[in-house]
Amino acid sequence: MADSFYITTPIYYVNDLPHIGHIYTTVMADVIARYQRLCGRSVRFLTGTDEHGQKIERAAREQGVEPIELADRVVARYHRWWADLEISHDDFIRTTEARHQRAVAEIVRRINASGDIYLDNYTGWYCAGCEGFFPESQLVDGRCPDQGHPVELLSEPSYFFRLSAYQQPLLDWYRANPGCIAPESRFNEVVRFVEGGLRDLSISRTSLHWGVPYPSDPGHVVYVWLDALTNYISALGFGSDDDELFRGFWPADLHLVGKDILRFHCVYWPAFLMSAGLPLPKTIFGHGWWMRDEAKMSKSLGNVVRPDHIVQRFGPDPLRYFLAREMSFGQDASFSDEAFAERYNADLANHLGNTASRTLAMVARYLDGRVPAAHGGAAVAEAATQAVGAYRRAMDALEPHRALESTWQVLTAVNGYIQEQQPWSLAKQGNAARGPLEEVLGTSLEALRLTSVLISPFMPGVARNLRRQLGLGEGATNLVEAGGWGLIPSGTRVGDPEPLFPRLDVAAYLKELEMNDEGAPASVPDGPGAEPTSEQLTIDEFARTQLVVGVVLEAEQVPKSRKLVRMMVDLAEESPRQIVAGIAGRYAADDLVGRRVVIVANLKPARLMGVESQGMVLAASVDGEPFLLSPDGDVPPGTGVK
Ligand code: MSP
Repeated sequence: MADSFYITTPIYYVNDLPHIGHIYTTVMADVIARYQRLCGRSVRFLTGTDEHGQKIERAAREQGVEPIELADRVVARYHRWWADLEISHDDFIRTTEARHQRAVAEIVRRINASGDIYLDNYTGWYCAGCEGFFPESQLVDGRCPDQGHPVELLSEPSYFFRLSAYQQPLLDWYRANPGCIAPESRFNEVVRFVEGGLRDLSISRTSLHWGVPYPSDPGHVVYVWLDALTNYISALGFGSDDDELFRGFWPADLHLVGKDILRFHCVYWPAFLMSAGLPLPKTIFGHGWWMRDEAKMSKSLGNVVRPDHIVQRFGPDPLRYFLAREMSFGQDASFSDEAFAERYNADLANHLGNTASRTLAMVARYLDGRVPAAHGGAAVAEAATQAVGAYRRAMDALEPHRALESTWQVLTAVNGYIQEQQPWSLAKQGNAARGPLEEVLGTSLEALRLTSVLISPFMPGVARNLRRQLGLGEGATNLVEAGGWGLIPSGTRVGDPEPLFPRLDVAAYLKELEMNDEGAPASVPDGPGAEPTSEQLTIDEFARTQLVVGVVLEAEQVPKSRKLVRMMVDLAEESPRQIVAGIAGRYAADDLVGRRVVIVANLKPARLMGVESQGMVLAASVDGEPFLLSPDGDVPPGTGVK
């Protein structure tokens, strides 16, 4: 299709709830999709979920549910997140859908028809407890990495793909299309990897059942990455009678992925496509990783960021802005609530919000709320025209953070201009200065109109709000038209003013987060919540609370928190529990080590200042000061309290 643009996110595993990494990839894809629409392209934007394989099967088993139930629950959370964040995807693919399974069967058939598949034996470390294979590199002390079960070297029949035959064709493709992998550092990384040689790839399993049945041999299921990668074409109708979308949108213009899954997308996927005789994607972009306060995020550290609290309080756009602006696209960045709050105030409240509110207030006061015909502030017009050019170049080069920098240059130019022209002084001079006054405010309004266009891919809701306040219609649909200068219609009445970004008291905000245990539940949610109980508990109800004696093994103050202590507490379980408590005001971390405490052991895990707490320590509270409860004697850890 002429001028079409097909953009995809990875499809997300359903063994975990959405976190900032998934949100980032999807928000950035949305920013790019909206920008391409603004440029007049016919865009198709796909996201979805990766629901098969050992990981999901195991997570479902641990929770005592069928894999599809787990998938349905997590998919519902994804839909909610994407709606809350105004993600404008055109399709959401699930690998458990029939349309996907048909496409997987078709690609396997095509690869087979090319003579690239043979039957052999797959040998690996098999864990009977987890019913799955692990590569040697993943074993921990010679045991399975998930549960620590013993493993044995086993073989099972498996179909193999002749990946080794694609080393040269892949290298030829990379060299002929240097833009196919971006940024450049990732391109070099992939080329070096392929130059090092490729081994054939096992593409089926008999030890696993939760997957797409292998066509012609249903005792096998298709390897999860071959299954998952095919989503990019199954969502376009590949393998079905209706392949109009496939003809219109394939090959993809942009597969946006995190750097950790680059190899699957830049080596396996193009090799599968070559073998199946299908065109290759135009660009695969590997973005960087969000870290938490400089550390890598991981479930076991309990420091995974789920920014529910930000969206609940500020709406989606400040988070979208922060993600796009804070991280240089392609590199790593660190997430912290402080960094968010500071950028919110500096860039959004002070810069954008203030420029809009002071301009609109002066238009209401001095010009009776009407847009004047003048907008000839030459310096601002010049800065704006240059910024639009730089913005477009940055977006086309996949540097959205730079596009935002250019947009903010327009605001800087307007602010400097207002400061210099002093419209409040001009207003005092009455009719004599009416012309210059209209010029200053008309120029500022026009710069704000342009800003509303440029921010619309990043902050669609704020862009709509700003346009309404400027007395403009819904949205600019084409950057070529709306990116010009002098387009704000004169004589229209500006809308009712409303602060775009109320200023934030950063210290109070951070304190509030510390007190309130912000963040989403750490585990996949259960079904509907339990009925509220009446004021009195029955003994059975009380017995549901597991109170257990524990011994504090380690304790340290949570960084950047005045009140919180992180403790590792022995409850005579397989491993110690991490418990976070607001007791630092009264207890020094070192004095806690060796103490006996009482823990609520079956409390749903919660997150305090980004650190997971797997239970609650009991303390009496005197005017907010905590006094820990301890058993009267050396009771062994793990003893129940009744
Ligand atoms: N299911 C596979 C993808 C299959 S695509 C055919 C998968 N899923 S995932 O849920 O684990 O991760 C999806 C994306 O989230 C990846 O692009 C990954 O890089 C991204 N992120 C996960 N954690 C991240 C950060 N901490 N920071 C930024 N993105 C990271 O992989």
